[in-house]
Amino acid sequence: MYLTREEERILDGEHGWAEQICMRILVKLGDLFGASKLIPINSAHVSGVSYKTLGDAPIDFLQALAENGAKAKVNTTLNPSSIDKEHFKNQIPKEYFVKQERILELFCKMQVKPLLSCTPYYTEPVLRNMHMAWSESSAVVYANSVLGAWTNREGGPSALAAAIIGKTPDYGLHRPENRAASVQVKLEVELKNEAEYGALGILVGKNFPNEIPMFQGLKALDEDCLKQLGAALASTGAANMFHYKPKTSVKEPLEKLTVDMKALEQTAQALSTADVEAEPDLVFIGCPHCSLNEVRRIARLIQGRKVKPSLHLWICTSRNVKQKAKPYVETIEKTGAKVLCDTCAVVTWTSLMGINTIMTNSAKTAYYAPTLNKAQTIFAPLRKCLKTALNS
Ligand code: F3S
Repeated sequence: MYLTREEERILDGEHGWAEQICMRILVKLGDLFGASKLIPINSAHVSGVSYKTLGDAPIDFLQALAENGAKAKVNTTLNPSSIDKEHFKNQIPKEYFVKQERILELFCKMQVKPLLSCTPYYTEPVLRNMHMAWSESSAVVYANSVLGAWTNREGGPSALAAAIIGKTPDYGLHRPENRAASVQVKLEVELKNEAEYGALGILVGKNFPNEIPMFQGLKALDEDCLKQLGAALASTGAANMFHYKPKTSVKEPLEKLTVDMKALEQTAQALSTADVEAEPDLVFIGCPHCSLNEVRRIARLIQGRKVKPSLHLWICTSRNVKQKAKPYVETIEKTGAKVLCDTCAVVTWTSLMGINTIMTNSAKTAYYAPTLNKAQTIFAPLRKCLKTALNS
């Protein structure tokens, strides 16, 4: 990979160990994927923040970077942590709190903003054609497909290295020739809700794990549904982008998948590992973190009702959205539901809280919770989730 003289100096250690190690990561990655050069980025988003998923191993590395003066050169934000300080006080061992706080302190020392959300695009400016280094798969797909920005799916360390250098290797979705659709998905069914969009993502990710799908026949488009589609697509496959606009042009005949109601229903059913009529311990909405629109919708649907005493209802969002949604949050909290920030059900210790069955409208959570939370799942659309959570 070609490096400028300045980049060579960083690689040689003239700017200190922290930048040298970050440059090494980027050069290694660039060489691996055949990048010809580094390009400047406008922002970075770093995953690998939750102490539950991270464990102890990377703390020493973060500490070494922070103590050696590493500082983000571009606007850099963090994915959710394992804790909502306000709501999880007595439910999680103190030692876990301390470790999580230490991780956040180290990131802050590197001038990384503790946004602690997987939907940074609701808070930070993202413009069309902006190059970024993001490492939350659901956010990567949304940014490329819906917002028209350009990012590969980074790992936590490479996103952090890109943040500290302010550049990323020029390969993959940073190159226009790699952003075209490579398979066609023809819908023979009209999708009715966000859960069906999620099921579609799971199905297509499984069938075409390394392709960029073009969806034909997606009607009544809603960005919250597209968010579910992308999050699910990135769960079962390595796809980092999809096309959905009717006018997307295709140069050559593409391999096709036709999706009908039966295929969609089978996929959705397989996302429930518990009996769909079972009583969950937790109803979880907000994977990926809710938009203002979603919080407003939930408030309208549950206004004046009460959450069943036998279960929890969690709505996860970012602090910024929670602040903007204040009146809706008040309505939601009056029902006994909790509006959580900085975390989500998947990246916290639900099993320590006695949560064994999770009901959700998120195909991504339903897909991961059996492994990451050791929980049974019930996958259903928002209205059904809320109906289950509330007294009639
Ligand atoms: Fe976000 Fe947690 Fe889902 S980090 S994408 S809400 S698994």
